[in-house]
Amino acid sequence: MNSIFQTSEVIVSENQFVAEFSNSVTLYIKREDLLHSEVSGNKFRKLKYSLLKASELKKDYLLTFGGAHSNHIAATAAAGKLEGISTIGFIRGDELEFKKEKWSPTLKYADSCGMKLTFISREAYRDKDSEAFLNQLESQFPDAMIIPEGGTSELAIKGCEEILSETDGEYDYICSSVGTGGTMAGLVNASLSHQNILGFSALKSEHLSEEIMRMTTNTNWSINTDYHFGGYAKTSAELIEFMNDFFRKTGIKLDPVYTGKLLFGIFDLAQKDYFPKGSKILAIHTGGLQGIEGMNERLRKIAQPQIITEL
Ligand SMILES: Cc1ncc(COP(=O)(O)O)c(C=O)c1O
Repeated sequence: MNSIFQTSEVIVSENQFVAEFSNSVTLYIKREDLLHSEVSGNKFRKLKYSLLKASELKKDYLLTFGGAHSNHIAATAAAGKLEGISTIGFIRGDELEFKKEKWSPTLKYADSCGMKLTFISREAYRDKDSEAFLNQLESQFPDAMIIPEGGTSELAIKGCEEILSETDGEYDYICSSVGTGGTMAGLVNASLSHQNILGFSALKSEHLSEEIMRMTTNTNWSINTDYHFGGYAKTSAELIEFMNDFFRKTGIKLDPVYTGKLLFGIFDLAQKDYFPKGSKILAIHTGGLQGIEGMNERLRKIAQPQIITEL
């Protein structure tokens, strides 16, 4: 069977011009969202080496974790279907177990890909990285490749190092959304020392910088925590309007959890003259567009403006 990951050369995504601000500051976006229709953005990069290793070790399953709207769950389910390996998803929140009608579009999609969904309580979920829990899983599923939440692992960081290509050395700033920090660590490792890697945190976390320091030894990076809009599931009418306007002007869809907030932050900083004169910025489109449907369902319920998906 042909693997979507097994290519002799690293796939390089196109950089698309987005905007020129005052002071000749220019913004481009790396279209990682176009890598693959079902396993796109940083998910493709993060899963690649885990999938290749699972095949090498002849593992029967991929076993991973996530919430009801997780991009990682959707991508792992799709990758399993495409690569012919079974998938198990441990999902946060046991209240969903017997209520299929209440499943998010992400869970319905993962189910349709054949992922076996196992719902666990929020308490048990908090414990999922503990040695005791992982040892128990390993003995229960000896033939599974266990992938951490958000897909972040050493293999994922190695995959994310492939986001940047040699020609990206011309950018002064590389900007990316940050959740667990694995994508950012890969970008930092692959960057040149004159480049600034600027991470925009998608969640309220005080420990992100410590996490990233654990994953890379380079120091040419910083985290901005001003544009998380209150955390993962939170948005505002201003953010949605920005995303819709961005889509109308560029033809590029953004997701409400990561890339929408990233681009909002970059535009806001550029308009406040944060970037030095003549700076060239590259924003990474890390995908996540599968999350739009679930967010629109929630926005409809509270009678808020929706994210447009067609022009
Ligand atoms: C679309 C998207 N962008 C960015 C991120 C952040 O990546 P990381 O968790 O590696 O920081 C995620 C989460 O994995 C994501 O799904």
